[in-house]
Amino acid sequence: MNILSPSLLSIDFNHIERNAKVLDEAGVKWFHLDVIDFVPSISFGMPVIKSIRKESRMFFDVHLMINEPIRYIDAFADAGADMLTVHYEACKDLQETIDAVKAAGMKVGIAVNPETPVHWLEYYINQVDMVLIMSVNPGFGGQKFMPIALTKLQEVKALAEERNPELLIEVDGGITVDNVQDVLDAGANVVVAGSAVFKGDKKANIAAIMEKLNA
Ligand code: DX5
Ligand code: ZN
Repeated sequence: MNILSPSLLSIDFNHIERNAKVLDEAGVKWFHLDVIDFVPSISFGMPVIKSIRKESRMFFDVHLMINEPIRYIDAFADAGADMLTVHYEACKDLQETIDAVKAAGMKVGIAVNPETPVHWLEYYINQVDMVLIMSVNPGFGGQKFMPIALTKLQEVKALAEERNPELLIEVDGGITVDNVQDVLDAGANVVVAGSAVFKGDKKANIAAIMEKLNA
């Protein structure tokens, strides 16, 4: 069963509640929340997540593109995150960070930027719930998919088969209805989509992507 995780970053922030409702009604179960500080962009933080939590029962898939996320783990748990995904590039001590997320009662994911090799994650793969392969450089929605991600998804998939068959493999950035099949074939089972969901007719967009995910 593949999962769609629409990214809040592409929503009109004036209408978060209305958009979350559209997702809910369309049967979407996950919500991808991008918290950013380490690229030339700042998105939103705990208070925003906390207020959306009041209105939504979706699984909050929180993608932390922040330096030393270990500083805020308890605060994100408190805000209502279900899973925290931290970046390999942004943690001084990844092991300690993984352990702290688990200790706070959340699921844990580890992410790599397009230029970071997958084998750097090898040691951690049996300790985490999810690996996130970035298919754009972190920071903004609406960028073009980088095909290097396909090779990296295949690498993660091969590692997962050996060491953690339950592993969720998420891909994030530039996903469209036209390339979603390619990422599924390469091994992804959780697909983030921002622009592809929220630009234009949201219901129709979700239905078109879901059809591929459920085929
Ligand atoms: C990029 C974020 C993504 C982004 C995806 O740094 O991590 O989650 O919102 O947006 P699209 O799907 O438009 O590339
Ligand atoms: Zn993201």
